Amino acid sequence: MLTSASFRLDGSTALVTGAGGGIGAEIAVGLAEAGADVGCLDRPSTHLDDTAARIHAMGRGAVALSADVTSPDSLAAAVATVESELGLLSSAVNCAGIHSNAPAEEMELGTWQALIDVNLTGVFLSCQAEGRAMLRNGGGRIVNVGSISGTLVNRGINQIHYNASKAGILQLSRSLAIEWVDRGIRVNVLSPGYVRTGMARGVQTARTLDDFLDDIPMRRMATPSELVGPAVFLLSDAASYCTGSELLVDGGITRW
Ligand SMILES: NC(=O)c1ccc[n+]([C@@H]2O[C@H](COP(=O)([O-])OP(=O)(O)OC[C@H]3O[C@@H](n4cnc5c(N)ncnc54)[C@H](O)[C@@H]3O)[C@@H](O)[C@H]2O)c1
Repeated sequence: MLTSASFRLDGSTALVTGAGGGIGAEIAVGLAEAGADVGCLDRPSTHLDDTAARIHAMGRGAVALSADVTSPDSLAAAVATVESELGLLSSAVNCAGIHSNAPAEEMELGTWQALIDVNLTGVFLSCQAEGRAMLRNGGGRIVNVGSISGTLVNRGINQIHYNASKAGILQLSRSLAIEWVDRGIRVNVLSPGYVRTGMARGVQTARTLDDFLDDIPMRRMATPSELVGPAVFLLSDAASYCTGSELLVDGGITRW
């Protein structure tokens, strides 16, 4: 029977990458509001401590983890710290990501590689570290943050590496979902449309904000907090039959 408890995360221990700002910070706090204790992972010099403090203020457990998602050792150490300080890992949201843009014919190999390292290899390595713990623990739930850019080509933004990384997250997640389907781990993708964060503000484009709003049926960008409910849902028992799926949270943009 479906109850409101099915939509909560009470008793779970979660890890959120990219939790030092933007969407990841809001999701980390949102998981705590839904009842989880949360390991908050990001690079140094972000607002990780603020995220952890917001979670502590609501009486939930939190640990700030300074780590890089391109480093398997750093991820393994982060998972170990979460498990020793908060409890056995059962949920994860992989939100860390970077953005840059340049015309394809001018893009330096280093620019391509640096983005793929974080956005695609970093998601694989995060899933691997989390999955190893979840397999030991008898199961878990993983949400990888993709993008509408995994499906469409953003009008007026030359970002071939970003689009390829986000398309890669979709098939990576479907593959993992099926590899782990008999071992209790669900893997899904949460794909935002345009969200008002530092990343969106940093995009280099000749288009105006109004041009972008014209692409969106809802005529506005999302706030980071509008990604929280969908993330909680995918991690919760209410989504018990969802694996290998993509939840688009995009104001309708992929339907135009
Ligand atoms: N903002 C948007 O419009 C939008 C749209 C679709 C998808 N997304 C995706 O949502 C996710 C979050 O983006 P955001 O808009 O909140 O951006 P953001 O820049 O505010 O947050 C990204 C976070 O990832 C962290 N990060 C980057 N590289 C890292 C690394 N190597 N190791 C650990 N942490 C690292 C950053 O420090 C930062 O705190 C990204 O995956 C992004 O691609 C964003």
